Amino acid sequence: MSAESHLIDMQGLNSHYGGRQVLFDIRFTIPRRQVTVIMGVSGCGKTTLLRHLIGLKATQPGQVMIDGEDLGGFDEAKLRAYRLKTGVLFQGGALFNSLSLWENIAVPLKVHTRLPEKIIRIMAVIKLGLVGLSEFCDYMPSQLSGGMRKRAGLARALAMDPEILFVDEPSSGLDPITAAGLDQLILDLRETLGMTIIVVTHELESAFHIADQLIVMDQGRVLAAGGPEEIQASGDKRVRQFLNRQADPRWTENPATSSCLPGERVEEGKG
Ligand SMILES: Nc1ncnc2c1ncn2[C@@H]1O[C@H](COP(=O)(O)OP(=O)(O)O)[C@@H](O)[C@H]1O
Ligand SMILES: [Mg+2]
Repeated sequence: MSAESHLIDMQGLNSHYGGRQVLFDIRFTIPRRQVTVIMGVSGCGKTTLLRHLIGLKATQPGQVMIDGEDLGGFDEAKLRAYRLKTGVLFQGGALFNSLSLWENIAVPLKVHTRLPEKIIRIMAVIKLGLVGLSEFCDYMPSQLSGGMRKRAGLARALAMDPEILFVDEPSSGLDPITAAGLDQLILDLRETLGMTIIVVTHELESAFHIADQLIVMDQGRVLAAGGPEEIQASGDKRVRQFLNRQADPRWTENPATSSCLPGERVEEGKG
């Protein structure tokens, strides 16, 4: 395959907050029109990686290529043009509570186009239709379930017909059935609109269900990248630990209490 088949080429991304480095030499490619899932435990750097890719956090030159161009070299105008080609559903997926559903979807259309209100409403309703919410156009966010609000957030991310869709933790806070519905919706978007989709998650089942390609991260580094079967067959100890959720103390909610009997005490440095 030629280099052009990759939409995004991470060529060694490093990232810091203040003096603390949180991403280390991140390298992988993101193919067009496929679903790439970035997974790893909480705190490993997934959202930070996403913030670079959507231009919310500055990237040094030479570290990330987008469509053959250096993201770190984009000026304001280029960054704005790039953002218009991307849609983002953030972890919180926040809607404006004082606006109805269609008005929420209309926000990016009002900001970025000069279309008349009537047309904007029609476009917003079409986007709500894509996520199965066209009958709820005039509802307020408070009148919807968590899953419906997530879908509405997705409709808003789709408002400007993005080429690339970024989704951060789509299933967080949702029950398994609603989460599975959202996964299916993501697959439908890939099929019907041919979008390049990048999903960040720590949910294994969802990741393996939707991914064409998986990236496994740990502590700011890429552990493994490849197709689902490839990752499933990985012999890397830390990848296996992540897949099996073995008792790595970092990944246990509360190791001191969960691993011992009532009344037993764990003393530091012993056992
Ligand atoms: N705004 C911030 N300021 C300082 N440190 C941050 C900030 N956001 C995230 N971090 C740190 O960066 C690391 C990666 O966080 P994040 O990218 O949010 O991980 P994930 O999305 O995988 O849970 C963590 O150690 C986190 O504490
Ligand atoms: Mg996160």
